[in-house]
Amino acid sequence: MPIQLLGTGSYTPEKILTNQDLEKMVDTNDEWIVTRTGIRERRIAADDQATSDLALIAAERALESSGVKASELDVILIATCSPDMAFPSTATLVQHRLGAVNAFAMDLSAACSGFIFALETARNLLESGRYGTALVIGAEKMSSLLDWQDRTTCILFGDGAGAAVLRNEEGSKGGLGPCNLGSNGSLSELLLVPAGGSRIPVTAKVLEERSNTISMAGQEVFKHAVLNMTKTAKHLLKEAEWDAKELALVIPHQANQRILEAIRTRVGVEKDNVFVNVDKYGNTSSASIGIALDEAVRQGRLNSGDRVMLLAFGAGFTWGGMLLEWRTPA
Ligand code: UT7
Repeated sequence: MPIQLLGTGSYTPEKILTNQDLEKMVDTNDEWIVTRTGIRERRIAADDQATSDLALIAAERALESSGVKASELDVILIATCSPDMAFPSTATLVQHRLGAVNAFAMDLSAACSGFIFALETARNLLESGRYGTALVIGAEKMSSLLDWQDRTTCILFGDGAGAAVLRNEEGSKGGLGPCNLGSNGSLSELLLVPAGGSRIPVTAKVLEERSNTISMAGQEVFKHAVLNMTKTAKHLLKEAEWDAKELALVIPHQANQRILEAIRTRVGVEKDNVFVNVDKYGNTSSASIGIALDEAVRQGRLNSGDRVMLLAFGAGFTWGGMLLEWRTPA
């Protein structure tokens, strides 16, 4: 049962925070950030913009590009680790504002791997035959989880949203292919927001220590990201019997240019065939693949029949990959 991507959309906030801006906020410099991460600037949501506001715009753009009406949606999944609030889900807020009255909506939490986890969940719902059309969104206001005094993390992340509309199209060719997902909760301490949930609710002490913000063992995360994404990529290529050289485009989670380069050389993909926009947006967590996919489509980088790989790694740890055979929507 071929599940096709009918259209994509994305939104990044207007406010640009450059490395030069960060030099005035913490003890860092443009040269360090560019050489260690490849990031030059990132987008930061306005104070009155929440994750659902970013998600809504990306969703509207994805619906427009796919020619699907909100009322045709049966499923809305939002991957996010920075929801508007503990509940209701960000997805229900977006469902209401879209007017998607026939859809059920829920959030899904897999940190930076969220977009692929949501795609795989939506694909299985569609393949069940009980649902016809799904909207998958990755949306984050990572700036709300940052300690703006911690130079080791605040320079890395940005805000944004990416979305895709999926449909089960009987008789069509290509579309979503093999997927491989994994998790290892034993390493959760290496990348987390320790407080602000039920384990350590927000108190004056939490605010003082800023433990309701991202804490990361950068080098450890780096190693596991390269290892797991490389392993996943090789596993998927073997399963599909594709050669790495046949990949027209790899769209990886955008965390660090050096991570992307390490995976590229280990998997054996040509330099021009890895999509990179980490320089413009930094790490937007579960939004990154949706944003990159939409940019790739709008830049005309995908042609019918192209073999594409999505690849991600994030807190949890979680990781995953998915192959697509691109079909330009009619
Ligand atoms: O989305 C998935 C999750 N996240 C990731 O995939 C991120 C994975 N990790 C990374 O991308 C990298 O580990 C970082 C970019 C976070 C850090 O790069 P690194 O090359 O691993 O640097 P490091 O942590 O080893 O730090 C090297 C030095 C340290 O100074 P000393 O101890 O050598 O004197 C840091 O204090 O760089 C210092 N440093 C900085 N200097 C200037 C750390 N952050 C900064 C900074 N500006 N912003």
